Amino acid sequence: MTTESTPRSPYRFAVIGTGFFAQNHLHAWAEIPEVELVAVCDIDEERVQAAARDFGATPYTDAAALFANEDLDFVDIATTAPTHRMMVELAAAHGVAAICQKPLAWEMTDAKTMVRAMADKNLPFMVHENFRFQYPMRRIKELIDSGAIGRPFFGRISFRTAHDVYAAQPWLIDNPRMIIIDVAVHLLDLACCFIGRPETLFADTLRVNPRIVGEDVATILLRMPDATCIVDASYETKSDHNTYPQTFVIVEGTEGTITLGPDYHLQVVSRGTVTNEDLIIPSHTWSSVPWNAIQDSVHAIQRHWVHCLDTGTTPETSGAATLELMDITLGSYESAEVGSRYRVGTLLD
Ligand SMILES: NC(=O)c1ccc[n+]([C@@H]2O[C@H](COP(=O)([O-])OP(=O)(O)OC[C@H]3O[C@@H](n4cnc5c(N)ncnc54)[C@H](O)[C@@H]3O)[C@@H](O)[C@H]2O)c1
Repeated sequence: MTTESTPRSPYRFAVIGTGFFAQNHLHAWAEIPEVELVAVCDIDEERVQAAARDFGATPYTDAAALFANEDLDFVDIATTAPTHRMMVELAAAHGVAAICQKPLAWEMTDAKTMVRAMADKNLPFMVHENFRFQYPMRRIKELIDSGAIGRPFFGRISFRTAHDVYAAQPWLIDNPRMIIIDVAVHLLDLACCFIGRPETLFADTLRVNPRIVGEDVATILLRMPDATCIVDASYETKSDHNTYPQTFVIVEGTEGTITLGPDYHLQVVSRGTVTNEDLIIPSHTWSSVPWNAIQDSVHAIQRHWVHCLDTGTTPETSGAATLELMDITLGSYESAEVGSRYRVGTLLD
């Protein structure tokens, strides 16, 4: 795709990385008529052949060859963080729009370089930050924006489980930085989406499981101008019910409280009126419990991308927006390391 031409649907695209989570991307794209999957790429020959066969695309084991041979409107990068910069730079060099999985990078310098490379070519760029696209989170955002609870002044966004995340994602075991950049990044994004950007934060971390290198429990206190919000995540929480991979939310406002509890039970207290609802997550032929809300959010964010291409609008989770999220995410590690508050924005300067 060149910067001069405006592509029209069906948008020709490729998925790079056909591992664990990319299966959700591939199934969701197959439900979106405005796109045409032309190629898949993975260094793992077996995986890429399986994806090519299942989704009807040309297989590549080398991303450079993919970009050299195919005429693409965009790429969907679903590899892990160490290869993100290389893939985004290839896309920029070939004038191809890109979606990149979270975390965008492990270092701020890489994230800034990627965002600049795409912006310099005026190319659409979105980070696959999908939690805010979960159906329950969209409902909460709508309620807050409608004024149902007045002005939010407190939030708690929580993801706690003992699910063996290492079985499907063994690479998490050796990551020197783990739960904050793996899952709290989503919760921090939700905090910003619901309550706004913090001015400072304080983070504390633990490693409970001795088998892993990084932290598996994290608690982060965000201070917005007129609100506080706790973000907490754990991969070592053994309780009598398994709610993985659900996120629990409380947002308190001057006129009421929104609570998203286990099994997507939503309670809204608004000016003295209480409503309770068991949310029904939109289903897909390929989605299954317990993953359904996450799987539906993949479909929703991919639809959002297509809408942005169609209308020429900037994605909610654009590269530029993600730099602010990276600042908060990496700033949480700085806070935990030095044991003091992190001033939000420091890493952006
Ligand atoms: N948004 C979410 O809800 C969510 C959930 C899970 C994982 N993720 C993210 O998705 C990304 C992938 O995670 P995963 O668990 O699927 O990992 P994975 O290891 O299962 O898949 C990554 C794939 O990339 C391939 N790959 C590596 N280097 C490559 C290269 N140079 N060229 C082509 N392919 C290459 C690997 O062979 C592998 O098949 C991570 O960034 C992770 O954080 C996001």
